[in-house]
Amino acid sequence: MSRSVTLIPGDGIGPSITEATVRLLDAARADITWDRQLAGAAAVAAVNDPIPEATLESIRKTKLALKGPLETAVGKGFRSINVALRQAFDLYANVRPAKTVVTGLKFSGIDIVLVRENTEGLYIGIENYIKIGDDPMAAAQSMAVITRFGSERIIRYAFEYARTHGRKKVTLVHKANILKYSQGLFLEVGRAVAKEYAGSIGCEEKIVDACAMELVMRPERFDVIVTTNLFGDILSDLTSGLVGGLGLTPGANIGKDAAIFEAVHGTAPDIVGKGIANPTAVMLAACQLLDHMGDTERAARVKGAIEKTLLEKKIVTADIGGTASTDQFTDAVIANLGAV
Ligand code: NAI
Repeated sequence: MSRSVTLIPGDGIGPSITEATVRLLDAARADITWDRQLAGAAAVAAVNDPIPEATLESIRKTKLALKGPLETAVGKGFRSINVALRQAFDLYANVRPAKTVVTGLKFSGIDIVLVRENTEGLYIGIENYIKIGDDPMAAAQSMAVITRFGSERIIRYAFEYARTHGRKKVTLVHKANILKYSQGLFLEVGRAVAKEYAGSIGCEEKIVDACAMELVMRPERFDVIVTTNLFGDILSDLTSGLVGGLGLTPGANIGKDAAIFEAVHGTAPDIVGKGIANPTAVMLAACQLLDHMGDTERAARVKGAIEKTLLEKKIVTADIGGTASTDQFTDAVIANLGAV
């Protein structure tokens, strides 16, 4: 039976790269019915609401969404739509794979999956100023909240991901040497979960600063990384950079009841309407979607066709050194579906 998935084309280059992705999935005969919904600037223009109730209702029903980038700076008072969606559906796991495909980069042989906790830590938004004397903003404080529940579910997610994807090792990244309570709790929970997988999935612990250095010295030695919200945000941009930049990296936001798949990049206002945007990141996000739906064979075939096209480097977009349009690149990927 066809599976219904919410499609949010998004803003800027979003509509063109999501349509390219829909065309690719159609060509791969993915059994998906798209429920097209608005969010971001497009939704503000249409209904004066950056996340219309109809969009939320659609995701509540389908439990799955593929999303183009959203322009968040739509006016004062609107919070980040991406953060709001994460909170609305408790999308606690942000899964960002970074794999070397394009040749000629500084690094090769990278195949890292970074699993970032998406709902806790320093990003919970509890901040305030402290008045001292006449200065109402003499100091500021932000609270990081780490819970046993939140740590356990994200660390377990990372180990389960490793187990189900044939991965060998999980690196627990923390700063428990300084932040003994919050990061200490994350590490303690990590050690307990790791014990359950001993013998099948290896576990190593790394302090975040040492991890950052090692990621640029010997990135090929990392497999799955799991870490708290802020560290994951920073390190996942670092791993994207190692494999060629934002145009190539997808991200999945996964919760117990829903999941939203997207490109890591934004709306690329500087190239809107030129027909040259690279649709790779959204296409790879669609592979994560297929994988999540259990359609793993099709996910591998579509991913293989994307990687083959990038590796051949004959028909690729300008951001990775080619001259092809979004449509020409998409045609080349579709042509390669039969060759993988
Ligand atoms: P951006 O990622 O849109 O652009 C940065 C640079 O990368 C630009 O030069 C752009 O042309 C290039 N680029 C990005 N994606 C590309 C692609 N697929 N193909 C070729 N080149 C690509 O970041 P920027 O300019 O900081 O943000 C623009 C807007 O996007 C802002 O409104 C921001 O809030 C929003 N944004 C939304 C995100 C989301 O919805 N997940 C994530 C990041 C930014």
